[in-house]
Amino acid sequence: MRRRPVPPGSATCDAAPNIALIKYWGMRDPSQGLPYNSSLSVTLDHLRTRTTVRFDPELEEDRFVLNGVAPGGSPLAAVVRFLDRVRAMGEIELRAEVTSTNNFQTASGLASSASGFAALAGATTAAAGVPLDARGLSRLARFGSGSASRSIFGGFVQWNAGRSPDGHDCFAQPLFGADHWPALVDVVALVADAPEKEVRSADAMQTSIRTSPRYGARQRAVPARLLRTRAAIRQRNGPALFREMIAECDEFREVCETTDPPLDYLTPASREILECVRTLNASGDAWIAGYTHDAGAHVHIFTLAPKASRVRQALAQVDGVARVLTLHPGPGIHLVPDGAKATAHRRG
Ligand code: PMV
Repeated sequence: MRRRPVPPGSATCDAAPNIALIKYWGMRDPSQGLPYNSSLSVTLDHLRTRTTVRFDPELEEDRFVLNGVAPGGSPLAAVVRFLDRVRAMGEIELRAEVTSTNNFQTASGLASSASGFAALAGATTAAAGVPLDARGLSRLARFGSGSASRSIFGGFVQWNAGRSPDGHDCFAQPLFGADHWPALVDVVALVADAPEKEVRSADAMQTSIRTSPRYGARQRAVPARLLRTRAAIRQRNGPALFREMIAECDEFREVCETTDPPLDYLTPASREILECVRTLNASGDAWIAGYTHDAGAHVHIFTLAPKASRVRQALAQVDGVARVLTLHPGPGIHLVPDGAKATAHRRG
């Protein structure tokens, strides 16, 4: 075992959350982080996790500081497990200090675990001198959080479920770059009093497999829906994309709600937002917006730029919408050079 990582010993990486238009929900092998179905997401701009990893011969144990606070319990344990994996790859023993900041609310349903583990994958491997290409980083990131495998890349990203028991064919790949569809906008409605998740997604999804009578039907529908969603994005066909994403989100929610015990991630405000989008779509000839949400209460409403202000006006009528963000597809992870660390790390 080497005692020291090769220089630099410390590295900083930025990563963004992603929102899945086709979700992954359920793992065929939880120990390897291997999902049942392939998924498709958009990596977002403006929201950022910045993580610095520093291997230090003076440290007796790993340290983790998130937004200025050192969380114990399962968040620390998950980071230590991840570091152990990279230490094994690099054959090093040194403990590390991990300092992470989000420029958005953590555990708010804005997928901080995706950006968090994507940034951790980039920073830890760079600091440990473990050379991985983007595909390798994607394979690694999924051990922290499945959706993190997609945040390695920018723009529109597909995470291939693969078939192999060893997971070599399970990685994300970029489909279309962040600038593929400039008119596409994600209006995010942040709802007030969004509850903290009681059950980790990784556990909740396995309960769905065992107990939801809707699980099998959704799994059978996903592959064709993924192909139609890809085609809609390729053709920049808003109404087709909005139809697919709403149908997928509704099926995902149905699986959650029919899980025993039921998984209810939404607040009354979230439900009203979904209804508001349905009403907007019913008011014209073609659908103008599509909604989706993850295992959280906030709602992402995709629309085309000319309709964004109409969507925001409709949201302003909904009680319990605390804030609205207007986001676009954004870049994947990048290592931050030492000299650039002092630059602003704020929400744009
Ligand atoms: O990345 P995880 O393991 O926390 O699970 C994320 C699950 C969903 O966000 C609901 C779906 C997805 O594909 O992102």
